[in-house]
Amino acid sequence: MRITDTSDLWWKTAVVYCLDVEVYLDSDGDGVGDLQGLALRLDYLAELGVTCLWLMPFYPTPDLDDGYDVSDFYGVDPRLGTHGDLVEVIRTANDRGMRVIVDLIVNHTSDRHPWFRSALRSVDSPYRDYYVWREDPPPADEPNEVFPGEVDGMWEKDERSGQWYLHSFYAHQPDLNIGNPKVRDEIAKTIGFWLQLGVSGFRVDAVPYFLEAPLGDVQDGHRLLRDLRRFLQRRSPEAVLLGEVNLPYDEQMKYFGGDDADELTMQFDFVGMQAIYLALARHDPAPLVKALRERPRLAVEAQWANFLRNHDELTLDKLSESERAEVFEAFAPDESQRVYGRGITRRLPPMLGGDPRRVRMAYSLLLTLPGTPVLFYGEEIGMGENPDVPGREAVRTPMQWSSRKNGGFSDVAPSRLVATPPAGGYAPQHVNVADQVEDPDSLLCFVQRLIARYHRSPEIGWGELAILDPGDAAPAVLAHSLRADVGRMVALHNFSDEPAVAQFVLDDEPDGVRLSDLLGPGEVSVGDRREVEVELEAYGFRWFRVARPGDGRLG
Ligand code: GLC
Repeated sequence: MRITDTSDLWWKTAVVYCLDVEVYLDSDGDGVGDLQGLALRLDYLAELGVTCLWLMPFYPTPDLDDGYDVSDFYGVDPRLGTHGDLVEVIRTANDRGMRVIVDLIVNHTSDRHPWFRSALRSVDSPYRDYYVWREDPPPADEPNEVFPGEVDGMWEKDERSGQWYLHSFYAHQPDLNIGNPKVRDEIAKTIGFWLQLGVSGFRVDAVPYFLEAPLGDVQDGHRLLRDLRRFLQRRSPEAVLLGEVNLPYDEQMKYFGGDDADELTMQFDFVGMQAIYLALARHDPAPLVKALRERPRLAVEAQWANFLRNHDELTLDKLSESERAEVFEAFAPDESQRVYGRGITRRLPPMLGGDPRRVRMAYSLLLTLPGTPVLFYGEEIGMGENPDVPGREAVRTPMQWSSRKNGGFSDVAPSRLVATPPAGGYAPQHVNVADQVEDPDSLLCFVQRLIARYHRSPEIGWGELAILDPGDAAPAVLAHSLRADVGRMVALHNFSDEPAVAQFVLDDEPDGVRLSDLLGPGEVSVGDRREVEVELEAYGFRWFRVARPGDGRLG
């Protein structure tokens, strides 16, 4: 790879930032965030080092699943603005060096979507076959696997026809029938529409559910995904599909398109994310090392998306029952902090007891893991959840801009806010952008520095991973290196609350090699046999550039 390849395959070295317009900034004082508000914050995001915005659903919606219940695939929710406002946001973001990707939610529609309304009116409706129906009653004891305890089963009765329709998620989200060529055409048209407005790709919602054909022909679903990818690339060669596929690694490979790599461009690493939490809970990197070793190699165009937190529950579904119990015990000791028997409703800093050393170590880790980091809005300032709000909504509170009223999110009376910020230690008075921008020691400035170093180190997104042996004096240290044609970096992360001394050997490096510190001034000496010794504080971390004589790199 050459350094110039990073512009071609831009997603491999991107910093993705997920935000919900509805809770970002309210520019017109109605208590709801909007696109014009987001436009006012694009410079903030560019300064942070973000290169790709992922806009959560902004489509017209009854809003019974935070916008994941769409009633018009081509619309913009009038509460948030207009198509014009969206185009202005995309254009301005592009000008500031940021691409925009948007949610593609095509497993289902809202039950208020005109297609479903028409489908309900008559079995002869031209839209009836846009959805999935059954004549005979579903098994009475069939649980809803996505929302157990909240939703009964996967089929809802349509009283008028006496048939049942499929809903993998809530009953108000009828699944689309991808076996119907007309539905496939609509999905492609939707993709084409948003590309034409300037987006650089899609975060594809609930992919395995979407591809599950009513007749159980999984191959047919993958054929559809390949068709959509080809269509996407015809319309926009730079566009990506970032898929939500929470499955074991070998299953995920199929959604990348296997060796052909012709389906999803990127996928979130749910397995790795859960391993990080187990490693943090145990003060031992071993579970993460195991996940990284098991993580399949990808084709050069494909990429893993790393994350610590998203807008849903922090799912622990890929851990064993006892591992899950350990993480629950460590980070969600109270039953009210758990949901669906598998997940946690908290944000990272409260889970880590607000310990700034651990929080920083976790973000340092995120930004050095092979792949592309994805941040959830507010992570950069250490926002907490609102524990008074049950379920997934707890982490969907307004962005905290300042210590002013409503955290500077909106001027409206607090009772009219679309969501309520937390009280207590994580309230906007204590955690906000305005204060942190002014403080070079703040989490915000720290994350900004990490991102800047990440941008200088394209080997993180492109490189070959090697786990190094940090020696006996560093039992809880993850030492890893990433090597690409452009160069190599080494990162050390101490998962323990005890200091450590890591000793490792930098194999395969030329005479005169140096280890320069990427997070501070100075360098660490490399011995004749390429041996290196580095001290780490409790929860400490270090990043090093492997500087080879004459490699032309700065630092
Ligand atoms: C995805 C989203 C989640 C939503 C669901 C149904 O899992 O992340 O928020 O509820 O799909 O669309």
